[in-house]
This record gives sequence, C-alpha cells and structure tokens, in this order.
Amino acid sequence: MAVQRTFSILKPDATKRNLTGAVNAVIEKAGLRIVAQKRIQMTKGQAETFYAVHSARPFFGELVEFMTSGPVVVQVLEGEDAIAKYREAMGATNPANAAEGTIRKLFALSVGENTVHGSDAPETAVVEIAQFFAGNEIVG
Ligand code: RTP
Ligand code: MG
Repeated sequence: MAVQRTFSILKPDATKRNLTGAVNAVIEKAGLRIVAQKRIQMTKGQAETFYAVHSARPFFGELVEFMTSGPVVVQVLEGEDAIAKYREAMGATNPANAAEGTIRKLFALSVGENTVHGSDAPETAVVEIAQFFAGNEIVG
C-alpha cells in the first residue's frame, strides 16, 4: 500500500476539553505523521460545504451548529494506507460501538460530539484537504 494523505478535524468537544495533544499522541502512535495543522474557527458556510453530503439528514443543522460552536484543529495526516489507518484509530462514529483504545472510545462524548473527523475515501480526502489547506502549507 502506498503512502497516502487524509484530512482530519479535532472537533470542538476536543479543543474545549484541551485534548489536542492527547488526540495527537494517539494519531502519532498509530504511525501517522501530522504534516499540516492549524487551529481555526469554522464558519457556518465552511461547515455546510464540508458536510454537504449530509445536508438532507435530520442531524445536519445540529452538526453544523456543533462544528461552529468552538475552535477546531484541521490537519493533514500522512502515512502508509493513511485513510483506513486513521479510520481505524478513530473508532466507530458512535463511541458506544468504538473499539478499545480508539480515539472515540477514549474521548468521544456522544455520536454528535465524537472528537474527530477523518476522510472516508481517497477522493474525499483530496477535496477536504483542498478546502482548508494550500499546497505550500503541507510539509511532508
Ligand atoms: P466524520 O465524517 O465526522 O468523520 O464521521 P463518520 O464518517 O464516522 O460519520 P458520518 O456518517 O460521516 O457522519 C458525520 C458526522 O455527523 C454526526 N452524526 N450525528 N445524531 C446522529 O445520529 C449523527 N449521525 C452522525 C457525527 O458527528 C458524525 O461524525
Ligand atoms: Mg464521514
């Protein structure tokens, strides 16, 4: 498997509880390198664009409200099979179903406030990275 890049967000429940370093430690222990990172306040427009695929879902309004409720840390992660590797390190969307040792099992509060986002496919990773990072901000 080749070296890949994936897009990650440490969500507002993580920054609020001062867990940036703790989550990053799990990411790095999983063998992923943080090759770009910045802390931002997402706008409503950015959150709506980012989660457009979920716009018809009943939880969309709540999701946009949550993602704009406080700072987030956006990241690009790099490594062998990074997309699948990060999804595995994150754990299931609902922390009640997340495996031991995963980020969501360790830190998530609920299915909504679930600490992290990770891209789900190579195509979405490219689009998501481009929404938040210029090429020269990513240093592998
Ligand atoms: P993400 O996109 O954030 O990495 O999470 P995911 O792939 O594991 O889950 P996805 O199905 O893409 O859902 C995106 C985010 O929407 C929120 N959600 N809330 N209240 C609900 O039933 C519900 N379902 C999903 C979660 O924050 C989820 O991460
Ligand atoms: Mg998703």
